[in-house]
Amino acid sequence: MNTREMFKRAIAGGYAIPAFNFNTMEQMQAIVMAAVETKSPVIMQVSKGARNYANATILRYMAEGAVAYAKELGCEHPEIVLHLDHGDSFELCKDCIDMGFSSVMIDGSSLPYEENIALAKKVVDYAHQFDVTVEAELGVLAGVEDEVSSAESHYTKPEEVIDFSTRTGCDSLAISIGTSHGAHKFTPEQCTLVNGVLVPPPLAFDILHEIEKKLPGFPIVLHGSSSVPMDEVNTINQFGGHLEAAIGIPEEQLREASKSAVCKINIDSDSRLAMTAAIRKHLAEHPGDFDPRQYLKPARENMKKMYIHKIVNVLGSNGKLAQ
Ligand code: 13P
Repeated sequence: MNTREMFKRAIAGGYAIPAFNFNTMEQMQAIVMAAVETKSPVIMQVSKGARNYANATILRYMAEGAVAYAKELGCEHPEIVLHLDHGDSFELCKDCIDMGFSSVMIDGSSLPYEENIALAKKVVDYAHQFDVTVEAELGVLAGVEDEVSSAESHYTKPEEVIDFSTRTGCDSLAISIGTSHGAHKFTPEQCTLVNGVLVPPPLAFDILHEIEKKLPGFPIVLHGSSSVPMDEVNTINQFGGHLEAAIGIPEEQLREASKSAVCKINIDSDSRLAMTAAIRKHLAEHPGDFDPRQYLKPARENMKKMYIHKIVNVLGSNGKLAQ
């Protein structure tokens, strides 16, 4: 399904839909198990990097398998969107639409304003013929997301959002209010030390509220919303990893954002951390194991636990299936 009805209900209900990235079968299984167990709608998203890694055709059929799997797990009417994350060209978006994706993102945020509009409109005009919904982006997030990277962030300018959404016809808008991609969202210097914990600067809720006022009821998307849980980072470092100064977005802030017009929250790095922590721990504790199932099973379990936590305790999308 596309995101249209899902987002309408999420805004009205004051919760957000989880958008989890996947590259592997174990991530896909964990996402589906978590969504079914919590009765949550879910967006399964793949980036250009995921398509390069896993093969576009395989991912597309994995998503179809995800729907069948959700039904097999007892969910009669699963709500699963297959979404392209950070499409960087019309051709890539078209390819995904032609392959059966129900939603795509065209990310022209690094382009000059008028070019961003022209590109997004071209994708919208094509996508809407097939009832595929389109996410566009205004403002730039810092950080590295597969092949998309930017050293600096530029907050979304609220004065541009009406013109942008009207002229592009996009269905949702990704904004920049202080989140960023990856597991190193802030330097320690940008944070304040509170009781021995580094607390990052708060998200720009004033900008979010201004945007909401200008576009009442319009679906807003937050990228870069991993919270980078310290227990996973510590496990990785305890068992041979080396992750320094990994800092994410505090979950209370994401909980607050979920209650607003923010109706899609993107989480990728937390899944990577959960998977890596479980694999490192397993291999360190069982040095004789060499069957991938032995370490991928706890990795899948750990990711599922993390997804359930996000759905229930952060985004509030549990129990929100239409039927
Ligand atoms: P994180 O790196 O914070 O998980 O963000 C992922 C994302 O925004 C994917 O588009």
